[in-house]
Amino acid sequence: MTGPQGAGVMGVGVIGAGVISDKYLTSLTSFPDLRVLAVADLDTARAAAQAAKYGVPSSGAVADLLADPAIELVVNLTVPTAHVDVGLAALESGKHVWAEKPLAMDRQTGRKLLDRARERGLRVASAPDTVLGAALQTARRAIDSGVIGVPLSALALLQTPGPEDWHPSPEFLFQPGAGPLLDMGPYYLTELVQLLGPVHRVTGLGGRARDRRVIGSGPKAGVEFPVDVLTTVNALIEFERGGFAQAVFSFDSGVRRFLIEVTGPGGTVAVPDPNQFTGDTVLHLRGAAPETLAAQGPVTERGTGALELARAIRAGVPERASGEMAYHVLDAMLAIEESIAAGHPVEIASTVEVPPALPADWDPFAATL
Ligand SMILES: NC(=O)c1ccc[n+]([C@@H]2O[C@H](COP(=O)([O-])OP(=O)(O)OC[C@H]3O[C@@H](n4cnc5c(N)ncnc54)[C@H](O)[C@@H]3O)[C@@H](O)[C@H]2O)c1
Repeated sequence: MTGPQGAGVMGVGVIGAGVISDKYLTSLTSFPDLRVLAVADLDTARAAAQAAKYGVPSSGAVADLLADPAIELVVNLTVPTAHVDVGLAALESGKHVWAEKPLAMDRQTGRKLLDRARERGLRVASAPDTVLGAALQTARRAIDSGVIGVPLSALALLQTPGPEDWHPSPEFLFQPGAGPLLDMGPYYLTELVQLLGPVHRVTGLGGRARDRRVIGSGPKAGVEFPVDVLTTVNALIEFERGGFAQAVFSFDSGVRRFLIEVTGPGGTVAVPDPNQFTGDTVLHLRGAAPETLAAQGPVTERGTGALELARAIRAGVPERASGEMAYHVLDAMLAIEESIAAGHPVEIASTVEVPPALPADWDPFAATL
């Protein structure tokens, strides 16, 4: 490594040592192009435990991590209410940011984060990075190849009983900034934007089956907590290019279903679960038996987007999981909420350029920096 803002392997600091940090730390420590130098959390004992588990040399308070000049990229895995403040603090310390989703709770602070990055000559990129995984890239390449022609429509279904069964601290997932739309919507909407282009207009309907839920696992099991979001959201989505989708985002369902199907004149592509890095693509072409396409390329996990960001920074090219993509998806999700409240369709002010698919031979495990 050649030091701050330099060339070579990129120094990374992880802020937020909760549930999802295991997947990130497993992944980030497996990429030769990145070196995780510190883990920080409000709970410094938790940060220390995660650092020890993954062989990260240092841990502690957020301010200490931000003061380390060898860290060029902050991976922000805090809860949604802290995403913007932690991101801004990282930018003020001269560091690039990989942000967990959602980018922000509202458009104003999301835009402030992106503007500040531009002013400082830094980057903000954001989850989801499942869209860069081998599974979803395989589906993307199939659709880009024209196998079904120009996509006209899509069906997206996220239906589960809710995350309080397995998450030991699920309260934040039922507060503004989360719920099935803002917590899970980014996976589905980001993938739909990759395949059908930017969103033009949305129409929503939503409700809530229960006002209180009970934590199902961990030390707080049995504790009741309030639900302050819509837990079932239906959306009709119109895209700038003329296609459309219907989507359901629900934490009220007895059925578990994770589905995106995209249809064009030549048939339908069943896309793998957009919240995962694995899964097959199934082609249902007109007049042919269904054909399964196994995912092509190395299997990765969360952290892939931070790696792609680091390589893009070094190469001086745009990153694929960009802050502008996350902002556009946030804009669309907030517009769905606004449509539900207003009872009429809402147009989306932002747009985004859809990045090209990754090259088929993109190798996250190669040492390239
Ligand atoms: N849990 C999952 O399966 C999952 C999957 C994908 C993405 N995510 C996203 O990752 C983020 C974190 O989720 P999680 O499940 O790990 O949550 P979590 O509650 O388990 O962990 C969050 C951690 O962030 C810390 N934190 C909060 N505010 C902070 C601040 N200001 N400074 C430093 N640390 C702070 C908390 O102390 C906690 O340790 C969320 O945005 C969530 O949407 C979670």
